[in-house]
Amino acid sequence: MLAGLRRLEYRGYDSAGIAVVDGGAVDFRKKAGKIANLAADLEANPLPVSSTAIGHTRWATHGPPTDANSHPHVVKRAAVVHNGIIENFAVLRAGLEKEGEQFLSETDSEVAAHLLERELSSGSNLVQAMRDVVSQLEGAFTLVAVDAQDPDRIVAARRNSPLVVGVGDGEYFLASDVAAFIEHTRDAIELGQDQVVELTPEGVHVTGFDGSPAKTRDFHIDWDLAAAEKQGYDWFMRKEIFEQPKAVSDTLLGRLNERGELMLDELHISPEVLRRVNKIVIVACGTAFYAGLVAKYAIEHWTRIPCEVELASEFRYRDPIIDPMTLVVTISQSGETADTLMAIRHAREQQAKVIAICNTNGATIPRESDAVIYTHAGPEIGVASTKGFTTQVVACYLLGLYLAQVRGMKYGDEIGAILTELDAMPAHMQWVLDNRQPVLDLAEELKDAPSVLFLGRHVGYPVALEGALKLKELAYIHAEGFAAGELKHGPIALVSKGLPMFVVVPPPGRDQLRDKVISNIAEVRARGARTIVLAEAGDDDARANADTFLELPKVSTLLQPLVSTVPLQIFACELATLLGHDVDQPRNLAKSVTVE
Ligand code: F6R
Repeated sequence: MLAGLRRLEYRGYDSAGIAVVDGGAVDFRKKAGKIANLAADLEANPLPVSSTAIGHTRWATHGPPTDANSHPHVVKRAAVVHNGIIENFAVLRAGLEKEGEQFLSETDSEVAAHLLERELSSGSNLVQAMRDVVSQLEGAFTLVAVDAQDPDRIVAARRNSPLVVGVGDGEYFLASDVAAFIEHTRDAIELGQDQVVELTPEGVHVTGFDGSPAKTRDFHIDWDLAAAEKQGYDWFMRKEIFEQPKAVSDTLLGRLNERGELMLDELHISPEVLRRVNKIVIVACGTAFYAGLVAKYAIEHWTRIPCEVELASEFRYRDPIIDPMTLVVTISQSGETADTLMAIRHAREQQAKVIAICNTNGATIPRESDAVIYTHAGPEIGVASTKGFTTQVVACYLLGLYLAQVRGMKYGDEIGAILTELDAMPAHMQWVLDNRQPVLDLAEELKDAPSVLFLGRHVGYPVALEGALKLKELAYIHAEGFAAGELKHGPIALVSKGLPMFVVVPPPGRDQLRDKVISNIAEVRARGARTIVLAEAGDDDARANADTFLELPKVSTLLQPLVSTVPLQIFACELATLLGHDVDQPRNLAKSVTVE
């Protein structure tokens, strides 16, 4: 159980707990802080041996991370763990307190434990009790529960929050992510929305909230335990940065048919429908949103279809203009981000077709979309997305090229030439990784900088935003990304003597664009900035304006983000390490944000 929780710790690391069923009672331990605290408590006060257990790692929503607010919540014979937010918990809690129930925590989750215990005490079995409880709840939840008087059964329910079943040899698992049980089995069952699942020694039984027979999908996990381990690296993030050449190469693999045409096997939307599309809206959050911003430049250029990029958390609240001819492309590494999921539902209600770009088989977002293109990055465990980003850019590019192909916007040889360039990217990324020493030196030199700015133009602009986000979330220092041309409209006032400014310079192929960026570097340097210039090897004009010059391989403008992002990832990882921060689990964050 502890090993499984450790593999899920990246999803939330405020507190953790475990409950087991033993001899007609529930016994449990729970502790604020990282799982190490729980492990130490278990070492000092071991739990009894049991074959039925539930556990949880928390990312606090209601109530700070304390022992009492940790899960499981145990009320007499019932123990419950919960992910998500129960939106009507205040009303339910007030009602229960009025009837004499004593609450021990400030969480929304504890109401589920009280409600379940009441149902069990009034004679319902665990499955029926769970159905009755979920019928009273509003919001997003995965609930997993045990009953002290029914020791061979675990029952769970899910709405808008992840849950998968692992099918082992004589053993079954439930988890929000397959990583929790990958050590024991690679066979899994994807559950649908509003389903109740029951595990007993006899097997797995899934029904709808109303008891109706349920549809599920079996799948095999295409990575193994080794992929979910650090393999000698100090951080998952560092390992994942170094995995990028392989992740990009795996994402490109097997995309051509025998006639040399681009094929996207998972794309179950007919070419006729794609030919009718008159607008593309890319919807995502955080780093995935920046991948979408990069993709916009390529998709519009290759397909001539207008493409908007929108933050998922803003999308449905502004009543976007979406119709059956709109193609909505959502990007999500985890496939569980609540904001993105809600955007998908909104888009589908407006009859738009939705394609998900996702890294996680069995996740909710691909299941609720019309089609999916999987990035084959393997598990991303470091909280800050790295290989997620670069493979998302590649998958978006494949989609853009596919749209150009089916709509006749590009000839086969033109598409072939770009695919050949894409195939060369893993080697270029490897070159950047092998030549990282100047970035490591820079991190050492800048570790006391109170603020760092990032500039870019065209596809370099989202790269600048991504560089700033990585630094903020890992090093906790002020960092901002700007469009280089926008600087003179205000932000240049921030420039003072010695301020470190990273500038991403486009390749010389786009002369005007590059010249303009070089002028922008000169402008900030004239005002005292310390310039760190990322530009193609041999770009002497860029070098002449650089206090530090970081060489990039020679690639075309649209593909440059795949190499220019890598030094910025390494910089943030290195700087945060030097500052003594936990790079894989930065403060206040969680990997998979399943609340809106
Ligand atoms: C930043 C980061 C986040 C995620 C965002 C979306 O390093 O990892 O900004 O990109 O939370 O997550 P997914 O892609 O899982 O939807």
